[in-house]
Amino acid sequence: MKYVCDLDQPILTLDASAGRGYWTIRHAVEGVQIFGGIGSGKTSGSGRMLALKYLRAGFGGLVLTVKPDEKQSWIDYCQQTGRSGDLVILEPGGPHRFNFLRYESAKSSGGSSLTENLVDVLKTVIRAAEEKDAGKSDDAFWETALDMLMFNVIDLCQLAYGHVSVSDLYNIVQTIPKTIEDLKTDDEHGGTKHFHEAFERAKYQVNALAEEWFTGLSFAEQQRLQQEPEVEMALLDAVPQARLFKYIDQFFVENFIPLTDKTRSIIDFIFSGFLFRLLREPVYSLFCRYDQSTITPEDSLSGKIILLNLPVKVYHKVGRDCQILFKYLWQRAMEQRDPQKNERPVFLWADEAQNFMHEHDADFQATARSSRIATVYISQNLPNYYASMGGTKAEFKVKSFLGTLATKIFHANADIETNKYASELIGDALFEDRSESITVAQNFSQTHSRSLKLERVVRPEGFVRLKTGGPLNDFRVEGYLHRQGDSVFGNVNYVKMRFNQQYQPTDS
Ligand SMILES: Nc1ncnc2c1ncn2[C@@H]1O[C@H](COP(=O)(O)OP(=O)(O)O)[C@@H](O)[C@H]1O
Ligand SMILES: [Mg+2]
Repeated sequence: MKYVCDLDQPILTLDASAGRGYWTIRHAVEGVQIFGGIGSGKTSGSGRMLALKYLRAGFGGLVLTVKPDEKQSWIDYCQQTGRSGDLVILEPGGPHRFNFLRYESAKSSGGSSLTENLVDVLKTVIRAAEEKDAGKSDDAFWETALDMLMFNVIDLCQLAYGHVSVSDLYNIVQTIPKTIEDLKTDDEHGGTKHFHEAFERAKYQVNALAEEWFTGLSFAEQQRLQQEPEVEMALLDAVPQARLFKYIDQFFVENFIPLTDKTRSIIDFIFSGFLFRLLREPVYSLFCRYDQSTITPEDSLSGKIILLNLPVKVYHKVGRDCQILFKYLWQRAMEQRDPQKNERPVFLWADEAQNFMHEHDADFQATARSSRIATVYISQNLPNYYASMGGTKAEFKVKSFLGTLATKIFHANADIETNKYASELIGDALFEDRSESITVAQNFSQTHSRSLKLERVVRPEGFVRLKTGGPLNDFRVEGYLHRQGDSVFGNVNYVKMRFNQQYQPTDS
């Protein structure tokens, strides 16, 4: 599929009494946020229209899903725009799969950077889930402890088996010895088997490498390194795996095993709970079981529209975990592309977007324009985002994040907070104050004094009764479109729009 690469190509034509303006691909890649109450026409009005326009312009994309009917909508959208051949649906029972660990290994060079990348990805997903739950703590201790556990378990797995798999990680975490004594003995009944096996294998690999290194030395050097401490220093210098193993050993013996039961079990539980969800079907077959992936995030760059049909309403926590994981890898892949070689715009689509937020979203959004990522996030209101982006300073975080999505569309809404925000964003304008003033003078004459008064262009109540589509409204959905930065036409940066729910891509 060919694509439009001219950033000034219009996507929407904005007509108003003040004139005509264009909303272009440039505006698309600066991000869109659609707000509106339930049934206000977000999905079937502005959302659907933008989706059809983006598809028609040849964008690649990623679609995250919350409701089970989103798959059918996108099948229809693609059909209507001649894009059916580009739609790839990753879903239970379908032909596609994506092994995220293999994908990451292939992208990372060298063992240590793989571990760092994996920890970063897993941490992002785990923390996104935490933030969603009520008791999110910003406690640095837990975060550091969890990071260190992940680092060391992944390194151990890598060192012992030469690759990382979810089941190996899970088994190792589950069987970390409870005491230093358990560490020394492979107690079949005590359940330390997997950990012990990995630990012994890693030790064996490191010893073999050490042996190889030592025999490779000149006789003179071997002589020089007779003393114990010196040989160890030289070994740690020369064989990176030996250094790594020393750290792993130190971590478990000195840091992790001595932790109190309660502390340990909390950290164990967060990590192994996450891994456990990935090990269960249908997710296991989609993301872990097969070595070969049939799709990768990079496919969006050649025009594929990847739809993750693991709707949160059906698959709950694991549906969200997997979609956030894919989203994050996808964002990283899009950011790494060379825009000189491939300038196809791609869209990131999330209806009910508050389900898929993670801690790096604001950073990605800040560079989305140069990576040509046209984000469309749809959500009812600001409090939804406060709850999902959680933590302290939620309001500040959310508002600065929303600042990175330059176009906002506000549909009918009963949420006061969102309506106030919208009203403030659109801002003030000077209106003529027509109040009459009567001066009692000799002639008893009446004069009209004209003064200008600064007032809200759209008051918060102005968003309550916008048209929400359906037959009663002749399938028209109303909304205010606000563009940050530059104006829509003249010096106005908002326009009241009507979106047609029955819009056809062949219409202009
Ligand atoms: N294709 C359609 N044609 C006509 N009316 C629709 C269509 N889809 C949804 N509606 C109606 O339009 C209104 C807005 O729906 P929707 O876009 O799903 O709202 P939201 O996504 O904001 O919750 C609802 O009253 C819904 O019943
Ligand atoms: Mg909707």
